[in-house]
Amino acid sequence: MSQPAAHRSSSDRDLRAPARAGPAPAHTPSPAPDDVHVRVATIDDLPAVVELRLALLREHSHNPLYRRLRPDAAARARRLFGAQLRAPDEVIFLATRGDAVVGILRCVQTAGLPLLFPVLHGYISSVYVIPAARRRGVLRALLAAALAWCEARGLMEVRLHNAADNEAANAAWEALGFRIAEHLRVRFLR
Ligand SMILES: CC(C)(COP(=O)(O)OP(=O)(O)OC[C@H]1O[C@@H](n2cnc3c(N)ncnc32)[C@H](O)[C@@H]1OP(=O)(O)O)[C@@H](O)C(=O)NCCC(=O)NCCS
Repeated sequence: MSQPAAHRSSSDRDLRAPARAGPAPAHTPSPAPDDVHVRVATIDDLPAVVELRLALLREHSHNPLYRRLRPDAAARARRLFGAQLRAPDEVIFLATRGDAVVGILRCVQTAGLPLLFPVLHGYISSVYVIPAARRRGVLRALLAAALAWCEARGLMEVRLHNAADNEAANAAWEALGFRIAEHLRVRFLR
């Protein structure tokens, strides 16, 4: 399960046109816009990763699950995301335009339920595109890199959660081939 972090080598960092063996599957997203590049984040990107992922949480501050941001969230984020950037079974992709980081997507090789197949799947999270770069194919480009990463690991399935009240995410994931398989419900006790 644990693989060397070969995907983090400098020669492999620009993933705008991920190589594929064999015919492309039906869900292959469109190629990235010409001015957008997708690469694997390294520990040097920690400040940008923290900034984008906190922006994502702030944008969801109306949601019952995400509205209670801890006051020390930034410090926690640096520790947590630093560990994630070094972990072997996950990857954070960054989309850049020129020198600017315009989008982020995290993908984790994840175990499924013990009585069910598949044993492992790819799990996508922490998806954020800065407002000025939206509707230009940045998410499509990030997703293409994530799907290539999953396929290179032999994963057959990719899952994700999105907030039910997030209309843009609902529309985007539907357009990109992700179907709703279950709903997460919450009841607050106090
Ligand atoms: C959702 C989000 C990631 C989409 O990123 P993006 O780079 O704008 O998406 P893309 O341009 O690659 O769009 C891909 C397709 O998704 C659909 N889509 C994306 N945003 C949409 C929107 N606001 N309304 C309707 N459809 C949308 C479209 O079909 C689009 O293809 P098209 O532009 O050719 O019609 C971005 O709006 C965002 O970061 N929102 C705030 C954070 C967030 O909601 N994250 C998702 C957490 S699960």
